[in-house]
Amino acid sequence: MALASLTLPDRVIVTGTGSGLGQETARLLLANGVHVLGVDVAQAPADFAEEKTYRHISGSVAEASTWESALAVLDEVGAAHPGLNGLGYVGAAAILEVGILTEEDPAAWRRAWEVNVFGNILALRALLPRLAEEEHGAAVLVSSIDANFGEQGLGAYTSSKAALSGAARTIALDYARTGIQFNILAPGPMRAGLFERHMAAAANPAQWLATRENRQPIGRIPGADEVAEAAQFLLARQSSALYGTTVTADGGLTSSFDFKTGESA
Ligand SMILES: NC(=O)c1ccc[n+]([C@@H]2O[C@H](COP(=O)([O-])OP(=O)(O)OC[C@H]3O[C@@H](n4cnc5c(N)ncnc54)[C@H](O)[C@@H]3O)[C@@H](O)[C@H]2O)c1
Repeated sequence: MALASLTLPDRVIVTGTGSGLGQETARLLLANGVHVLGVDVAQAPADFAEEKTYRHISGSVAEASTWESALAVLDEVGAAHPGLNGLGYVGAAAILEVGILTEEDPAAWRRAWEVNVFGNILALRALLPRLAEEEHGAAVLVSSIDANFGEQGLGAYTSSKAALSGAARTIALDYARTGIQFNILAPGPMRAGLFERHMAAAANPAQWLATRENRQPIGRIPGADEVAEAAQFLLARQSSALYGTTVTADGGLTSSFDFKTGESA
């Protein structure tokens, strides 16, 4: 089959590289020769230790000190590798707790907003000036289809994603003339940590999974590696016509309200 190539920033800061989408995005970028700075409270996977172009910043995205460290590491990478061009940001770190309002600790809502919203706000505050300096700067905020739809038991999470998408659209407008590519990636169900945690909380995880697979128009739950390809595209120069928009990567879930698990009408 014919092949096309992507022009990527030489350095990309990816949050949530300890697991799921952040990890798969980092893996893909590393394979394509990008210097990846991973930010996570968890460790990076063991095989990243062998990657000469991976640096790990341990800390919470919701702490300003983490972003001071990230900028320091970015400067170190720049000094060690003069001539690197372009900078990207993929904000994939997030938390999800399952519960309903009157039965859960209100602190769960605060935690979700703190990490899922404020973590990205702090990141952008630190990184927007750096992204704007670059000939090619790109920011990808990972939200969710839950920014627009309710999902039972996930009030804290869905509200955090709605806030993140709302903030991202406006920040994109505020910085539209800086030359930064700024977009939102909205995965649907994806075989990664948050999905697995939601499944584990179900009364019957096998049935929960089967229901979700069947309701997918494509008949399966996309893998984090597939969604990572969409993140990579949004970092690439080739997505320059997209701006402040939301790219939905949900296997068709939200393209219909009346999908009958593959039966014809
Ligand atoms: N999995 C899904 O079905 C799904 C669906 C829609 C959207 N998303 C979004 O995709 C992104 C990735 O989800 P995933 O399922 O791959 O998650 P995951 O749980 O597999 O990975 C999330 C990573 O974020 C890290 N993290 C959590 N809190 C942090 C903090 N305070 N500071 C730094 N790192 C922190 C975790 O340690 C973990 O390594 C999230 O933004 C999520 O909201 C996921």
